[in-house]
Amino acid sequence: MCGIVAYCGAPPAVPRLLSGLKRLEYRGYDSVGVGLLHRPDDRLCVHRAAGRLTDLVAALPNSGLEAVTTGIGHTRWATHGQPTAANAHPHQDCTQMIAVVHNGTIDNADEVTDWLDARGHKIATEVDTELIAHLIEEHLLEACDPLRASPVTTTEGPADRVAGPAALERLVAAVAGAVEHLRGSWALAVAMDGVPGIVLARHRSPLLLGVTRTALMAASDALGLGPHVEDVRELRDGDVVALAPNRQVSWYDRGGRAVAPPDPLRLSVRHVDAELGGALDYTSKEIAGQPAAAARILDTVAGRLVGGRLLDDLGLPSTLPVHLLACGSSAYAAAVTARLLTQFAGLRTRVMTASERIASPSDGDVLTVAFSQSGETADVLACLQDGRRGPWLAITNNPGSTLARRCDAVFDIQCGPELAVAATKSFTTQVLAGAALALALSTSRSRRDILAWERVLLAVPDRLAATDALAAPIAAELASTFAGQPGWIFISRGAGVPYAQEGALKLKELAYRWTEALPAGELKHGPIALVTSGVPVVAVTAMPTQRLAVNLREVAARGAQVITVGGRIPDAVLPAVLPAREPPWGPLESVVALQHLAREVAVELGHDVDRPRNLAKSVTVE
Ligand code: F6R
Repeated sequence: MCGIVAYCGAPPAVPRLLSGLKRLEYRGYDSVGVGLLHRPDDRLCVHRAAGRLTDLVAALPNSGLEAVTTGIGHTRWATHGQPTAANAHPHQDCTQMIAVVHNGTIDNADEVTDWLDARGHKIATEVDTELIAHLIEEHLLEACDPLRASPVTTTEGPADRVAGPAALERLVAAVAGAVEHLRGSWALAVAMDGVPGIVLARHRSPLLLGVTRTALMAASDALGLGPHVEDVRELRDGDVVALAPNRQVSWYDRGGRAVAPPDPLRLSVRHVDAELGGALDYTSKEIAGQPAAAARILDTVAGRLVGGRLLDDLGLPSTLPVHLLACGSSAYAAAVTARLLTQFAGLRTRVMTASERIASPSDGDVLTVAFSQSGETADVLACLQDGRRGPWLAITNNPGSTLARRCDAVFDIQCGPELAVAATKSFTTQVLAGAALALALSTSRSRRDILAWERVLLAVPDRLAATDALAAPIAAELASTFAGQPGWIFISRGAGVPYAQEGALKLKELAYRWTEALPAGELKHGPIALVTSGVPVVAVTAMPTQRLAVNLREVAARGAQVITVGGRIPDAVLPAVLPAREPPWGPLESVVALQHLAREVAVELGHDVDRPRNLAKSVTVE
């Protein structure tokens, strides 16, 4: 979570920083701040605001910003301390001369706090980032006076002591020294009053550096770099990097020794279509964009499923057991895929919630498939560090992401950036990627069988479009009837269960309603106690429909308001256009109807559907 940008070079720096922050705002939007260095003497000014980037922009001074050549910025999703202006980054040291923006978490914050307390530092916030600013201050003071034994007693800052041409190098040494005290993860950008340039550092939290014709730009993900960067390099764990205004970049290791830069990434920073184009919000734009997104990914797999050509092209074996791991909506896409791999392809599979992973007994190599829209989810990346047994495939929307760069193969779902926080088109296209992968892995199935299901798969975009048109107005009517209901139950059977779970997650995220999502057969084992008069029970049509119908009669008898989704149960309340015979990947199209339902309930309740409370798009903390 949280996004970092840094800019160093020719003015105007502020518009570049703000547009980088805007592109990263999906990563967190509860507070925001910038630290700016003004010409001619690199005077540092810090501006922070609670709320969104627009709140920061409103708080910026009307004049003087054109003199800013260099700056750092941060958009936050609070982990330590409330989302207030005081807790927003950049954080500062006792003298207010150092400004630090940080992604990640400091695991030994208590220990560092005690150490800094003992040395006289005044810690003003509960945010772990602030400790880093004080540690840098401490190292600058120590560099001036290596025998310093007494605590900080003066408000006279360390900047004047490090002024001059070597100022940036001294700041590098101080940052390298400061991070030696830390355990945890960090991507840092540091600016200091009177020091021309910026220092970056990284440990287990991504940070990229790109070059434009006139400046250097750093960001915690490729989207933040913007469209004009070339020569993008990713900092390695332990790297400390100095950015000078003349676009000179100096790379150092964790000991402060000069090192060669890493190789440039083969990365194309995708153009972000940030226009609403007539849609009311990004969520509705992205729901409506699903047929096109589906057609795009299916175009890339058409004709490559029989005989496992897709696997050959990805350079992956077809015989290994498959482990699938992901979080949130991506985990439901992984569950759909796992079912297909087991039941249709006959492969041994294991699905893991990435945050709950446990190492399995080593019984040889496996193919690990990581589903992650962003490719930056910390829990997923942490699994990579647990050790590898066999090849890894990333199914992601971000081929420049950390996950993609670290996996052996990448299946790009290429659904275009999702600017709404809740996953919609990325879920649909992850399911399609998973289905294509599973068909390609079905080596025991006949060619005819695979071709028949490939034809059904290729017709998904049309069915998604038909569902979109049919379901949207009905979802709006349902929302006006049911929006006041505080608790909802989502059920299905078999291959429909992950879609019911995804529909429930959407309602939670967008409408802040309590939801229960479960296989319909489990109702009688406890959750049916929740059913009272008027409770909405949303049932996703899936095989075997007769058994689902029995469960629906049971809840209706207890007063539930049954909302059937799909086409097969007679008189489905919320239509979804499904194939005549249930495909092995289940009733995918129903998810469009469920997305509309969640969005319409949220709109009815007056919520911001694109930026739901407490959430961020990319969950970069474990
Ligand atoms: C739900 C949602 C989240 C993500 C989850 C994983 O709408 O957006 O549940 O699916 O945080 O994110 P990625 O796919 O980026 O790893």
